[in-house]
Amino acid sequence: MAKIHTCVNGKLVPKDEATISPYDHGYLYGDGTFEGIRIYNGRIFKFKDHMDRLYDSLKVLRIEIAISREELEADIIKTIQKNELYDKGYIRLVISRGIGDLGINPRKCTHDPTVVIIVDSIQLYPEEMYETGIDVITCSTRRMVSQSLNPRIKSLNYLCNIFGIFEANKQNAQEGIMLTIDGYVSEATVDNLFLKKNGQIWTPPLYLGILEGITRNTVMDLAVEKGYKMEEKTFTIFDVYTADEVWLTGSGAELIPIKDVDGLIIGEGKAGPVFKELRAAFQELTRTTGFEIPRK
Ligand SMILES: Cc1ncc(COP(=O)(O)O)c(C=O)c1O
Repeated sequence: MAKIHTCVNGKLVPKDEATISPYDHGYLYGDGTFEGIRIYNGRIFKFKDHMDRLYDSLKVLRIEIAISREELEADIIKTIQKNELYDKGYIRLVISRGIGDLGINPRKCTHDPTVVIIVDSIQLYPEEMYETGIDVITCSTRRMVSQSLNPRIKSLNYLCNIFGIFEANKQNAQEGIMLTIDGYVSEATVDNLFLKKNGQIWTPPLYLGILEGITRNTVMDLAVEKGYKMEEKTFTIFDVYTADEVWLTGSGAELIPIKDVDGLIIGEGKAGPVFKELRAAFQELTRTTGFEIPRK
């Protein structure tokens, strides 16, 4: 396979030759935002939704990039074409404040923001885990409060979630559930959470301070389409322990079932029927919808 190329400020370079200034405030302070987007069957899945979320984050962060949305989208297409990754590809779009001085003040960032487009392949979990389910723990680290850093911004600062992953690693679990400061279930470190109990499907509401996952929104729509009673609802870890099925959603993981939480087996301890139904519907959607990538 040809060498993976990365696009840095519009220029395609082999990935190990791509460079960012150490004075870039994305590097110095985590001052920036990103998106993780999937490519399936020659199409970019939910491209518009990802770009809308990116521009919402950019607006709140007061970052104005030098190129138009159309030009940015054209650079994304160009990077996919260069890497010929038309199926099961992954786009990581990273936009940072750009080069500044050593102070934190964005006013001193007089250069344009830095725009990086990575297109590569990704496999977060081995295929068998989509049947066996994953081990999950409840993290003692709480989800960042909205009053400090609003989780609706997909910011480059993931330290809070990384502390959650330290805990999962220590207990040999694949993921960690993060609670809000008030003890409600929020989401996992890089995925949203769903549970199914008594014919209903619940997922935490956005006002708790979670990322508005695009996979989450897609799965909520699919659940309604399939006739389930789908609710955005606050609940505690007790409801997770006692659910029939629990699964996570994210662009990287797609839909992944949970086998156990804190050592307590969930339902049958493997992918359940509702999970399987929704995963199949999700996969069908990824194959048949999305922005068609022009071939070079
Ligand atoms: C904290 C967090 N929650 C949820 C998600 C899932 O979001 P999406 O489905 O848009 O990938 C992500 C993805 O990166 C995330 O970082």
